[in-house]
Amino acid sequence: MYDLPITPVEKGRKVRFSNPTRRFYEAIGGEEGMRRLMYRFYDEIYESDIAHFFPQDEEEFAKVKEKNTRFFIQICGGPKVYDEEAGGMDLNEYMIRIHDEFSINEKARIEWLGTMREALEEETGLDPEAKREFWDYLEAFSKLTVNTFSDGSRYYASLIEAVDKSGGN
Ligand code: HEM
Repeated sequence: MYDLPITPVEKGRKVRFSNPTRRFYEAIGGEEGMRRLMYRFYDEIYESDIAHFFPQDEEEFAKVKEKNTRFFIQICGGPKVYDEEAGGMDLNEYMIRIHDEFSINEKARIEWLGTMREALEEETGLDPEAKREFWDYLEAFSKLTVNTFSDGSRYYASLIEAVDKSGGN
């Protein structure tokens, strides 16, 4: 069995990550499975310590939930249902930019990952290797959403090393 570990962000340290391959997307059951997972995740976010980062208005929250779902469908190798949001920008760069508007620290990242881990653990019967691969992407990429450190300094995530194993996401 694989566990889903979390390693700390280190300021100024290069983050190396790979976009997920289609393996996870297929294991979870394509678009439908992704939607089930992401909707569950976002419902749990609403109950978490980072709920205040997100819109409190129900309709606005529903929009974020749906956009988030479409992003994950695309980044995991499904149809390109998020492309138009990013307006032609590289998806990873666009995602970092979206998060830059919020002051995200390591504590918020850990809460986000912990919430995702719970949502993933509820997917019983999921191929553990596929789950671990998806997790490794989230665990690493989430470091690039951290832009605020305990000494008050801001960090711009320019130190990225993306490894594309997927052949065209
Ligand atoms: C692997 C890491 C992460 C990924 C891939 C990710 C992905 C996304 C996506 C796709 C969206 C919707 C963007 C859109 O508007 O089209 C979003 C929004 C957001 N995410 Fe993340 N996220 C990650 C980590 C985090 C973390 C650690 C936080 C910590 C608080 C966070 C907070 C937010 C917030 C506040 C929004 C915007 C809500 C709004 O529009 O008002 N995210 N994220």
